[in-house]
Amino acid sequence: MKISVIGTGYVGLVTGTCLAETGNEVVCVDINEQKVQKMRNGEVPIYEPHLDVLFDRNIKAGRLIFSTSLKEGLEHGEVIFLALPTPEDEDGSADLSYVLGVAENIGNIITDYKVIVGKSTVPVGTAEKVREAISKNAKSTFDVVSNPEFLREGFAVDDFLKPERIVIGSSSQRATELMEKLYKPFVRSGNPIIVMDEKSAELTKYAANAFLATKITFMNEIANYCEKVGADVDKVRIGMGTDSRIGKRFLFPGIGYGGSCFPKDVKALHKSGKDSQYEFKILDSVIKVNDNQKIILFPKIKNYFNNDLQNKTFAIWGLAFKPETDDIREAPSLYLIDKLLTEGANIKAFDPEAMDNVARKYQGKIQFSKTMYDVLENADALIICTEWSIFRTPDFNKIKYSLRKNVIFDGRNLYDISDVEKEDISYFSIGRKDIKI
Ligand code: UDX
Repeated sequence: MKISVIGTGYVGLVTGTCLAETGNEVVCVDINEQKVQKMRNGEVPIYEPHLDVLFDRNIKAGRLIFSTSLKEGLEHGEVIFLALPTPEDEDGSADLSYVLGVAENIGNIITDYKVIVGKSTVPVGTAEKVREAISKNAKSTFDVVSNPEFLREGFAVDDFLKPERIVIGSSSQRATELMEKLYKPFVRSGNPIIVMDEKSAELTKYAANAFLATKITFMNEIANYCEKVGADVDKVRIGMGTDSRIGKRFLFPGIGYGGSCFPKDVKALHKSGKDSQYEFKILDSVIKVNDNQKIILFPKIKNYFNNDLQNKTFAIWGLAFKPETDDIREAPSLYLIDKLLTEGANIKAFDPEAMDNVARKYQGKIQFSKTMYDVLENADALIICTEWSIFRTPDFNKIKYSLRKNVIFDGRNLYDISDVEKEDISYFSIGRKDIKI
């Protein structure tokens, strides 16, 4: 099939590349000329495991083409994916100006039947707005479909190629059939393509993300309470998660959820509720609890250093909002770093992928090291913000000999309490007993 993808951000790029992988002819459009030029040369603009291999293969096969021309994109595809940004507005709602801006142009350009697919996470009712915007100028027939993505950063290629489900919001038989044909190769395992109306599809995406954010937040509150009463959240987590109604996943407490999706989507759903005179009380709490969770280690750190962080140096392991990505959007590490800098502390950091992004943001205020052990030299304490695998089995001797104080503040519960206890290191984690030596 001939496919176009408008917008080559994270979602657009993964969508375009994976659709080319199953033999479709894909044109990806972006207004950024420099970016398009680089992609034509085979450079993947984001870090996402396995994407580079697919990217290279499909460009070479001539199935994946990049363009700055919206006209070229709209003329090429029978199915046109809109993967445009929907950034958070000041009031928390999703800014639809990119999506609707492109939609208005679509009507002017298309001359034969097209299926316009909303891929961005958008509030309920957006498909209708897109349809209206296209209709203003449309000279040919078209259908608008909502097809939310459920891609996790770090696993996006796998999630796209082997989805647990495909959700299609469509009220047109013709468009539904085309979408089913397009996705058939990805659901050979028997996973479902779920067809529903556009509004329900739009809400499915928000509801799924808000639910997962709530699940994590609930567990974070249980962890905070464990600390008050001397229970161990690791044990509680396993005890709860083995109930299949609850499930084991997304129960890991830590320094809060971050990234480009959960924080934005929870706020957008909360705001959409308000706009429809519905108050999402749960989401209101989730937002507040998560804001506090991102800096939950701060009082522990301050207390350990007798309220004086002036000129103390902290080594940070992990900056990305989660492992296997260089994405630092809403990363809890940054909130903690800001608090520490405000108190006059110095920060040295190591992350396998995200250091360049953080360096750009902090402009010389943070030092970086090439290895996870270099960063410990002359630091007073180690703080762990992201659970990269490389941090899971460290050489505790190296940690002890490098740090000025033998203390680790672990925001991701990487180590068994019993293992650290043997090491003569003070250890503060989330929802478990503190080890003070
Ligand atoms: C998420 C959704 O999973 C995906 O379906 C959607 O399309 C986009 O948003 P992503 O943001 O890539 O994906 O990351 P995810 O792996 O879901 O983690 C989100 C955040 O929750 C991270 O900050 C992570 O550290 C945190 N998290 C996750 C926890 O704190 N505990 C957990 O148990 C799981």
